Amino acid sequence: MTLDDLRKNWDGLGRADPFWAILAYPNRLGGGWQGHEEDFFASGEDAVNEIMAALRHHSAFPSRTDRALDFGCGAGRLTQALAQHFDHVDGVDVASSMVDLARQHNRRGDNVDYHLNVAPDLGLFPADTFDFLLSIIVLQHIPNALKVRYLTEFVRVLRPGGVAAFTVPSHGDWSIEGAVRRLPNSWQNVYRRRRYGYEDVMEFHPLRRRKVEQLLRRAGADVVHVEQEYMAGPRYTSYLYVIRKPAALVAAQGQ
Ligand SMILES: C[S@@+](CC[C@H](N)C(=O)[O-])C[C@H]1O[C@@H](n2cnc3c(N)ncnc32)[C@H](O)[C@@H]1O
Repeated sequence: MTLDDLRKNWDGLGRADPFWAILAYPNRLGGGWQGHEEDFFASGEDAVNEIMAALRHHSAFPSRTDRALDFGCGAGRLTQALAQHFDHVDGVDVASSMVDLARQHNRRGDNVDYHLNVAPDLGLFPADTFDFLLSIIVLQHIPNALKVRYLTEFVRVLRPGGVAAFTVPSHGDWSIEGAVRRLPNSWQNVYRRRRYGYEDVMEFHPLRRRKVEQLLRRAGADVVHVEQEYMAGPRYTSYLYVIRKPAALVAAQGQ
C-alpha cells in the first residue's frame, strides 16, 4: 500500500463511517457512534489522562507544556483532550475527511490547529518544535517502510528534552485467528471488505519491538519506557513506547 493508497482508504472511511474507523467497536459499525459523540470524545480524555499519569509515574513528563502534536489525529478525539494539558496542540492527518471532521468538533478555538499532511515526513514542522508528541492506534495502519520514516521524524520534531508516546503492535499470536492475520494484507482485504461492507480498508502492519527500539536509538532518542498495551486487539502483542530526545543531541547534530 502506497502513501496515496493509505490516504484514499482513510479518506473514504472518514466519509463513510469515521468514528467507527477510529474506534472500531463491533457494535458501532455503520454509524453506531451517532448520538454517542460525547462518549467518543470522553474516551479520548480517559486515554490522554492515562498516558499523562504513566508519564508522571515513569518520570517522563515533558519539562515544558507549550506545544504538543497528535500524529494521526482522526476526528480530534485525543487532540481535544491534549489541549487540557498543553497550551497549543497541532493535529495532523493524512485524510482530508478526518481533518474536516476534527475542525467541526474543535472546542478549543485557536489553541488547536488541524493540518492535512500527505507527505512521507513531517516537513511541515521545523526541527525541535514539540514538547510532546502522541500517536495512538495510528502507526499500526502504516506500512513499515513509511512507519520507519515517521518514527525518525518524531525524534526530529521533538524539542530537546521533549517526549513522545506512541503505540506499535509487535507481532501476532499463534492461534488460528492470529495465523490468518499474518497473511498478506492484500488477502486479508478481501475478508475486510466483505465483513465490514466498505471498499476502503484499514490494513495492519506490526513491527517487532526489537526493530522499533533499534531505529529509535539510531534516530538519537532515549527509549525511556515500554509497556504492553491492548488497543490493537487480543491477537497482537503491542507496546506503548515512551521516548525522549536528549538535550545533548542538539549539540551532537550541530557538529
Ligand atoms: C484508528 S484512527 C486513530 C485516530 C486517533 N489517533 C484516535 O485515537 O482517535 C487512525 C488515524 O490515522 C490516520 N493516518 C493513517 N495514516 C496516516 C499518515 N500517514 N499520516 C497521518 N495520519 C495517518 C488516519 O487517517 C486515521 O485518522
